[in-house]
Amino acid sequence: MPSPVRVLFVCLGNICRSPAAEGVFRHLVHEEGLAEALHIDSAGTADWHSGKLPDERMRQAGKARGYDFSSRARQARAEDLQKFDLILAMDAQNHRDLLSLDPQGLHHTKIRLFRDFCTAHETGDVPDPYYGGPEGFENVLDLLEDGCAGVLSHARGLLSRS
Ligand code: 4NP
Repeated sequence: MPSPVRVLFVCLGNICRSPAAEGVFRHLVHEEGLAEALHIDSAGTADWHSGKLPDERMRQAGKARGYDFSSRARQARAEDLQKFDLILAMDAQNHRDLLSLDPQGLHHTKIRLFRDFCTAHETGDVPDPYYGGPEGFENVLDLLEDGCAGVLSHARGLLSRS
């Protein structure tokens, strides 16, 4: 069995967008029978919520679509950039913060914007829903369901090369 392809989703707090991305992607990967082939995780660029479950509003919105978001928040660290094969930033600020963890630029090519994997939505960032209403959480899920399909195709390409 080849070693798994490792995919990390990153937002600011790791309690809304990236744990939801992790859960949506995990669900898809499981449905495709690839659970053993992919290692999936999420993290935040900030450490404010370390150890917490995802935001209750995000968990409920996910549950209504059949997802379980139950990872514990943690902060992204420089060693993640070595360890993971594909690192997906939810917005441009998260992307810049991740790049700055690697001043020598050794891993910059694997740090990507999640939006680049969306095909059904012309989107910029995955907008932070934390300070807004319920529609923001639904919008996040719509974007994640779209982009995670693209992330899976990309990960399949990485698997075929590993
Ligand atoms: P996330 O959302 O980056 O999608 O997890 C946020 C969660 C918490 C805060 C900001 C964004 N906060 O300011 O505490």
